[in-house]
Amino acid sequence: MNTNPRLKGQSALVTGANSGIGKAVAIAMGNEGANVVVNYVTHPETAQAVVDEIKSNGVNAIALAADVSKEDQVVAMFQAMYKEFGTIDILVNNAGLQKDSAFENMSLADWQLVIDVNLTGQFLCAREATREFLRRGVVPERSIAAGKIICMSSVHEVIPWGGHVNYATSKGGIMLLMKSMAQELAPKKIRVNSIGPGAIQTPINHTAWETPEALKSLLTLIPYNRIGQPEDIGKVAVWLASDESDYITGTTIFADGGMTLYPGFSTNG
Ligand code: BGC
Repeated sequence: MNTNPRLKGQSALVTGANSGIGKAVAIAMGNEGANVVVNYVTHPETAQAVVDEIKSNGVNAIALAADVSKEDQVVAMFQAMYKEFGTIDILVNNAGLQKDSAFENMSLADWQLVIDVNLTGQFLCAREATREFLRRGVVPERSIAAGKIICMSSVHEVIPWGGHVNYATSKGGIMLLMKSMAQELAPKKIRVNSIGPGAIQTPINHTAWETPEALKSLLTLIPYNRIGQPEDIGKVAVWLASDESDYITGTTIFADGGMTLYPGFSTNG
């Protein structure tokens, strides 16, 4: 039981919240007193399990299906959220995927899918949330800001990633989407930031950690010498959504055990 919840009475929408980082973020927000929308595309039972876990802490939660790359589905999801919770205070643009291949073999379909979900999906959800933040304005009892948007980026917004050109491109795009939104919306008291996770132990990168050899090789990229856990990101997201970070906008916080420190140069160069 959290006696001093930092997001008390606020309403949060977390996209792609039925697994991995999104699930941990949704649960962490619920633990801090937020009502949470658990967005998902497939496997409703996994979304319902997250909802049940959040509700066991005494806050409200609902699962809403929507493909974030489809405008009509995104609009319908936000309308359903407002019907249930009245409004939105926090958007976590988390949904994302990888479709990896050598560059010369990359199909247009795999390029397009990754850009659509990872980048256009963040635009569509952020636009809907912004419209509601602007309509409603600041509610001082809940937060100093009129709204908070957190974009799930990656270390690959700055680290180039061969074999994953579509994914790295989407994350590079998120960086300037986030910063440009932050610049435009700051005067309206809307804060926009990103989290740049490194290697977090989730299904998206299972090949990087599921054998001892793979994990050993991965750890050569992480000075802090451990793979990240989804909860590491949940904690950062809660802080970025709370008034504790009220003066922070337009920034990416890398939560990566030092992956962006170019560890190859510690004994070379
Ligand atoms: C990717 C993971 C990868 C990590 C570090 C993330 O953005 O989704 O697959 O392990 O970056 O390279």
